[in-house]
Amino acid sequence: MSRIDDFNQKLDQLNLVGYWGIPRSESFEPKASFQPTLWRWEDVYGALMEAGDVLGMDDSLRRFIAFKSIGKVRTTHTLALGVQLVKPGEVARAHRHTMGAIRFVLQGGGAQTTVEGEPFPMEPGDFITTPSRTWHDHYNGSDKPIIWLDGIEAPLMGLLEIGFAEIFSRDRQPHTRPVEASRHELGAARPAWVDSKSKQPPPYRYKWEDTEKALKALGETPGDPHDGLLLRYVNPLTGGPTLPTFSCEISMLRPGETTRAHRHTSTAIYHAFRGSGFTDVGGERFDWKQGDSFTVPLWTTHRHGNTSREPAILFSMNDRPLMEALDFYREEES
Ligand SMILES: [Fe+2]
Ligand SMILES: [Fe+2]
Repeated sequence: MSRIDDFNQKLDQLNLVGYWGIPRSESFEPKASFQPTLWRWEDVYGALMEAGDVLGMDDSLRRFIAFKSIGKVRTTHTLALGVQLVKPGEVARAHRHTMGAIRFVLQGGGAQTTVEGEPFPMEPGDFITTPSRTWHDHYNGSDKPIIWLDGIEAPLMGLLEIGFAEIFSRDRQPHTRPVEASRHELGAARPAWVDSKSKQPPPYRYKWEDTEKALKALGETPGDPHDGLLLRYVNPLTGGPTLPTFSCEISMLRPGETTRAHRHTSTAIYHAFRGSGFTDVGGERFDWKQGDSFTVPLWTTHRHGNTSREPAILFSMNDRPLMEALDFYREEES
C-alpha cells in the first residue's frame, strides 16, 4: 500500500476524507442521475385496475401508483407523479403533511377533495392543490370510479429529511366552508382581510372549463417558442408558482406545430391529456398519445411536436420554482 493509501485509510478511521480521494474533473455541467422514461397508458391503466381488485382503501391510505425511474417512489430526483383510483363510495382518509401535492383529474367525476374544510368538486381536467400542511381527504360519492394524477414533492422532502405527517381524527374532515368559497374570495375583487403575504398559496381548484376557455382564447397567438400555448397554474394570491417547490402547467400544441429545442436545469414530467404528438428528448423520440406520461430530465435537450390534425394538450409538473428560488435556473437554446 502506498503512503497516500495509508494516509487515506487513517483519515477514514477518523471520519475524515481528503478531497484528493474524490474523483472529479475541474470543469463539468449538470448530468441527470435518471434516464428519460415513457409510461404507456395501457400499462398504467391496467396496473391501476388491478390495484382496484387487489387493494381495498383499508389496505393502503392511497391507491396510488407512481411513475418510477429512480429509487422506490421517485419519478425524478425532486418530484413524484402517479395515478390514483378511488372507487364509488370510497374515502381516502383525511391527513396532512409537509409535502405539497396536486391532483389533475383524468377520468370520472362527481367526487370531491376537501381541503381545510372546503369541498372541491373533481371533474375531468380540473386541477386542485393541497399546499403544504393542509388537511385533505377524498370522497367518491358518484357511481363511477375516478382516476386522477397525483403529484408530490416527496423526493425533495426525502432529501431534506424534514417531513411531518399526521392523520386526522376522523376519516373525513367536516365541511366548514361552502363549495366555491375560495373561488369567490380569490377573485379580482377580494375581501380586504385575505392574507396575501403567506409563502404557501391557498388551496384552489382550477376548473377545466376555465382552462380550456383560456387555451381557446389564445387561439393563433404565437405562444411560447419551446412549449406552444402555455398556461401556468399560478398562485391565485400572488401570480407566483403553483407551489413554492414546483409549478404545474398546461400547454397546447396546435396541429402541425413543432417547438424549438432547448434545455434547462429544471426537470419536468409530462402527461398527454388530449391528442397525440412526439417529444424528442436527449436524442430519443417519444411518440405519445392520450394517457401517456414521460420525463424530461434536467439539462437534456428537448422539443415537442404535434403531427396530427387535432390539438394536443400536455399537462406538466416541473421543479423550476425551486431552481429559481435558489438562483440555480439556467436555460439555453440548443
Ligand atoms: Fe396526502
Ligand atoms: Fe422545456
